[in-house]
Amino acid sequence: MTSYNVIDNLARQAISDALKYVRSQANVSPDIALILGSGLGALADRVDDPIIMEAAEIPHLPSATVSGHKGRFVFGRLGGRSVVVIQGRLHMYEGHDPSKVVFPVRLVRALGASCLFVTNASGGINSQFEPGTLMWITDHINQTGVHPLLGDQISTMRGLEWPARESIEYYDQEWTRNAEKLADKMGIATKRGIYLWTRGPSYETKAEIRAFRVMGADAVGMSTVPEVIQARKENMKVIGLSTITNFAAGLSDNPLNHDEVIETGQAVREALEKLAIAVIRIAPIPDA
Ligand code: HPA
Repeated sequence: MTSYNVIDNLARQAISDALKYVRSQANVSPDIALILGSGLGALADRVDDPIIMEAAEIPHLPSATVSGHKGRFVFGRLGGRSVVVIQGRLHMYEGHDPSKVVFPVRLVRALGASCLFVTNASGGINSQFEPGTLMWITDHINQTGVHPLLGDQISTMRGLEWPARESIEYYDQEWTRNAEKLADKMGIATKRGIYLWTRGPSYETKAEIRAFRVMGADAVGMSTVPEVIQARKENMKVIGLSTITNFAAGLSDNPLNHDEVIETGQAVREALEKLAIAVIRIAPIPDA
């Protein structure tokens, strides 16, 4: 028997409103959703036969506001598969609560997407990860003190019990291994690592970065983890790729700023786009 609390019921109604709106605009049924991080939004331009919906038009969704984020959904084909690109994610540091941040994931899941590919920009903590490094996310550390499923009662979603009471794998190991092999074949160097999620809005202090290194983090950023948690709750398969855009605070003489994050994102754009298309081609869609 499925049980939901009040918060979840409200969210379900909101999803149903959003779903109704999207369906009234176009008959879309994506298999794979992509979330594009800071400065990485250009991949959306590679989508064939695009149908574009502004996030602000969709009920219950604010438009994304951070520079480098556009706030729209691009439906179409990429790598020969049916995709939706979420361009411009929502962040907690913009003042959104975690249930809002994961709303796009709930929506694309409701539209039929069973796989999620998340990208982000992050600061490198591992001293071997220079700006421009592409890192497969193998696990994460939630350093925010919040969780998108706070308030959810134990419920059964698609046969799984959530919030999970045992540790689960968030990032699909097989999909990641296969993507890594493809990257090798294409001559694109990648690493693997642990992503640590902070709430922001400020970049970290040097002392925090030293502490995060001791904790085992390879990279730090202000996104991704909530969407991944929501996606796994809904039994989606997830793969994560982080672009290290800068040395984390205190690891370089140059002060850290958002422009550097955007510039490095641009510099790796071509490799990232090629890789992203390969990742989509091999996405483990059930019965595909
Ligand atoms: N810290 C937090 N978020 C980030 C960073 C960083 O160094 N770089 C890109 N996003």
